[in-house]
Amino acid sequence: MSTSLFGKRVLLGISAGIAAYKSAHLARLLKKTGCEVRVVLTEGAQAFITPLTLQALTGEPVRTSLLDPEAEAGMGHIELAKWADVVLIAPATADLMARLAHGHADDLLTTLCLATEARCIMAPAMNQAMWRHPATLANAERLESFGWTLLGPDAGDQACGDVGPGRMLEPEDIHARLAATLASLSKPLSHVDRGRSSVARESIDNRDLAGKRVVITAGPTREALDPVRYLSNHSSGKMGYALAAACAARGARVTLVSGPVSLETPAAVERIDVVSAEEMLDAVESALPCDCFIGCAAVADYRSAEVSPQKLKKGNDDADLTLRLTRNPDIVATVAARADRPFTVGFAAETQSLEAHAADKLARKRLDMIVANDVTLAGAGFGSDDNAVTLFWPGEAATQRESLSLQSKQALAEILVDRIAARLA
Ligand code: C5P
Repeated sequence: MSTSLFGKRVLLGISAGIAAYKSAHLARLLKKTGCEVRVVLTEGAQAFITPLTLQALTGEPVRTSLLDPEAEAGMGHIELAKWADVVLIAPATADLMARLAHGHADDLLTTLCLATEARCIMAPAMNQAMWRHPATLANAERLESFGWTLLGPDAGDQACGDVGPGRMLEPEDIHARLAATLASLSKPLSHVDRGRSSVARESIDNRDLAGKRVVITAGPTREALDPVRYLSNHSSGKMGYALAAACAARGARVTLVSGPVSLETPAAVERIDVVSAEEMLDAVESALPCDCFIGCAAVADYRSAEVSPQKLKKGNDDADLTLRLTRNPDIVATVAARADRPFTVGFAAETQSLEAHAADKLARKRLDMIVANDVTLAGAGFGSDDNAVTLFWPGEAATQRESLSLQSKQALAEILVDRIAARLA
């Protein structure tokens, strides 16, 4: 099952919240993953973000009014409602939620929502007291009973200075959850299905890792040669961080052992920063035992046999410099060899013979699953926001496999965590 958003027709509705500025980034993310995006702004939203910004980002005219003869002469509102595979409203204000919960059709966006048979998803955003008001909570319930899926809201600092629930989820999170929600619901929800929305709720409130301990390594390691130089690689850490975020969102207690990267720690994740492979192994061992270990770090296989206490100097002649390297511990294999071994997942970044190398590592390191990717593939792997991978796991007769198409690392992390959670249960 692929959660690729590629080719999905997304009608992005934006209402009048301060979070509307983030919707420009959301539109970009959707476009980047191959969605066709058409934007509808409510009247109030235009005080926060301009139609021109969204038009430039999507390459499509932006609709703002139901009663615009010129726009209706193109794709009319009913055609637009039929065109969409998904209606995604971000941000959805308390007022818009109230109007939708009561079947209003008093502007273009509410009319489209009433007319469409597409999957309807919203990311609420409002002040914490407004979100906690019984009227809003009742509207949220009512919307879910009509088949709406609510993503968030998140809790934390608010633009108004309050702290609490009501923040719109970050665009990356909305994008990943949209992909995961669509993946878990293979067919669009029709009016006939509306009212049976528990499945939608399950897909966003999935806490299937509650009570599980997950340890994840991410990023590169740096192996010092002298006080100023080191051996390392191009790993950005994005895949490991996306996995940590996905596991934490599903209720796991996550320890992220991270090499040097410039990424923010995902919410509710404990992060231990390390530099070298030996430090990474120490930190991992201090975090064990756990239920699942995911070795996503690009650990340097070798380190300098002697770390010079002073900066290495060029000789006066033109002679080459020879460095003697020594093997680093294999962290994932060390974890998999323990008597109390967790479910152990490795990664394999390959430039050739992907399957053969992955199958070899799966067996040699005694892994339960390996996630292999071809790092020569354009737009995927090291440093990129996207990835395409093949999963391998031991089968009864032969190695089993599943290929996952090019998509954001967040969306991919959701699927990988699905596969892991199914085996941890
Ligand atoms: O052997 P290779 O480096 O390709 O294996 C990749 C997998 O092994 C990854 O899961 C990586 O995190 C892990 N690894 C490790 N310790 C090492 C080398 C690799 O945990 N020293």
